Amino acid sequence: MIFKSEFMLHLLFLIFVYQVKGIEYNLFGYPGLGYLIEVNIGHPPQKLNILVDTGSSTLAVAAVPSSDISQFFHAANSNTLINSGKEVHAKYTLGDWHGILASDFIKFPSLRKKIPEVRSQFVLITDSTDFFMNGSGWQGILGLAYPVLGESTSTSDNSWLEAVENIQHKQATFSMTLCGVHSVLNTTHYGQFSFLDDGDVMNNDSFCTPILRECWYEIGVLGVHIVKDPNISGNVSDDTTIFPNMTELTVLNASGIEVNPSILNEKMCRDLNVEKSIVDSGTTNIRLPDVIFRQVVDELRLAARAADVLILDEFWYQGEAACWPEPRTWRLPRLALDLLTVDSDDKYFTIELPPENYMRLVSGHMADSDNTDEDEGALAEYCYKLGLEAGADTVLGVAAMEGMQVIFNKSSSSICWRRADCGVSPRIIGYYKASSSIREQCDLNKYEEKRTTSSIKAAQWVAFAVLNVAVSLLLYLAAPFVRTWCLRRYRAARTRFTMSMSRTSLVETES
Ligand SMILES: *[C@@H]1O[C@H](CO)[C@@H](O)[C@H](O)[C@H]1NC(C)=O
Ligand SMILES: *[C@@H]1O[C@H](CO)[C@@H](O)[C@H](O)[C@H]1NC(C)=O
Ligand SMILES: *[C@@H]1O[C@H](CO)[C@@H](O)[C@H](O)[C@H]1NC(C)=O
Ligand SMILES: *[C@@H]1O[C@H](CO)[C@@H](O)[C@H](O)[C@H]1NC(C)=O
Ligand SMILES: *[C@@H]1O[C@H](CO)[C@@H](O)[C@H](O)[C@H]1NC(C)=O
Ligand SMILES: *[C@@H]1O[C@H](CO)[C@@H](O)[C@H](O)[C@H]1NC(C)=O
Ligand SMILES: *[C@@H]1O[C@H](CO)[C@@H](O)[C@H](O)[C@H]1NC(C)=O
Repeated sequence: MIFKSEFMLHLLFLIFVYQVKGIEYNLFGYPGLGYLIEVNIGHPPQKLNILVDTGSSTLAVAAVPSSDISQFFHAANSNTLINSGKEVHAKYTLGDWHGILASDFIKFPSLRKKIPEVRSQFVLITDSTDFFMNGSGWQGILGLAYPVLGESTSTSDNSWLEAVENIQHKQATFSMTLCGVHSVLNTTHYGQFSFLDDGDVMNNDSFCTPILRECWYEIGVLGVHIVKDPNISGNVSDDTTIFPNMTELTVLNASGIEVNPSILNEKMCRDLNVEKSIVDSGTTNIRLPDVIFRQVVDELRLAARAADVLILDEFWYQGEAACWPEPRTWRLPRLALDLLTVDSDDKYFTIELPPENYMRLVSGHMADSDNTDEDEGALAEYCYKLGLEAGADTVLGVAAMEGMQVIFNKSSSSICWRRADCGVSPRIIGYYKASSSIREQCDLNKYEEKRTTSSIKAAQWVAFAVLNVAVSLLLYLAAPFVRTWCLRRYRAARTRFTMSMSRTSLVETES
């Protein structure tokens, strides 16, 4: 399959923590399948690769072989493993896993700030359905969200992060710098996971949003909109001058009255946070509530059409991949996300994501082995998927993190965003001023009340968390199959597809 050859290289990659432009990369991943890190478990240490996930709080690894994973943790080979015998079960929409709660020594050799080896609880997964993904490269999951509320399962720490915090006598600040693809020909993703000390980051070059509820990393997403052609909408810096200074942006209307340049839409803001809004590195896309997803995608589709980029509706609305013979340079608008700021209740900042963040390259190669029809195979080389999806809640997944360093500061209960030295070039602009209290306008104060009532039981919590990760990743994993399906349909309905194909090629030669 398509994964195979690339995947071998990908694994080779993992062996080296290499250095480019001063960043040591220790996260790797295959498109849409999350970012993973190497971990050593037990004594003598056993190496595994695990998914780094801010959308759950459990460390769980495969403890038995399965056709979807290349290696697993051999519990019997570790001299230091303590097996509690307690059975744990996590269930999610498309599958589940059963496991046993254990504890052992955990070390991440590639962490820049040397985080000591700690004994931590984790789950030995003994049976699973649709949890591990063929070709993902990970055999477990590292949950970095807040430990289970309500239930204290035992005397030991609930999560690896908590174990680290107890040893260091302080709450952790960790950061994820996700860089995205290496190049169009090389769809391996890379990035950096690290721990920070106070003062590592200049306060004046990052924009911080408060964590509204310490459960998942729940924040206030105030708006999602597309940023029209900069030639029309205003005179903001272009792509080369990325980091604006942090002054308040004000705009005067025709009668000289100060107005908000990007007007906060109260209804959208409430809709976005009705369920919850979380930052989740275990999700690939940006997930938006149905209605808002429609709105945003409608606009993007129109913008694409206006720019003569013809893409079928299935791409926009049904998560199908679209493929071209050449890599694409997108002339599409930026997607802006408005986030509440930490220090003021009437200000917010905006992250503007370039099209590369939401038009996601899923494969830069053709699957040649399983495709007998040579020239059809040669047609579709560069496949893209939309990095947006519809759902009940708002999830800022990998698509909203790439090109930035996202700093999870648990002691200040905030998440800060700054430009990364790698990947695409998002812009972070602020601060915008709202007319009155944003928390009130957007009904975000409800979180204060909910905090006390949300005593979720451990098992449920794990289930919810896993659901978040697994469903989105599994859906994403479907990409190659969808693409095959697309090609098959291409054979059946050649004219329709050819038309949009040739039209786009035409546009390319013209421009
Ligand atoms: C996983 O992939 C390998 C090779 O790519 C294949 O042989 C195996 O059957 C796959 N397993 C499943 C469960 O699909
Ligand atoms: C990705 O690109 C790098 C640098 O160009 C190259 O060294 C590496 O071999 C490529 N990896 C894959 C998986 O193609
Ligand atoms: C985390 O927040 C605290 C409190 O605001 C601050 O003192 C500290 O420097 C922050 N840590 C990092 C790494 O930015
Ligand atoms: C942030 O502050 C430091 C020192 O306080 C200064 O050297 C640096 O230029 C500032 N950065 C920005 C972007 O203003
Ligand atoms: C903006 O205007 C410049 C100069 O008129 C033009 O070259 C450029 O293509 C325009 N940008 C877009 C996105 O249309
Ligand atoms: C942006 O503003 C500057 C100065 O105000 C002006 O020189 C420049 O032409 C403007 N650019 C655009 C694209 O309007
Ligand atoms: C400018 O804003 C003020 C206050 O919002 C409003 O009353 C006034 O009508 C606006 N003027 C124009 C020309 O839009």
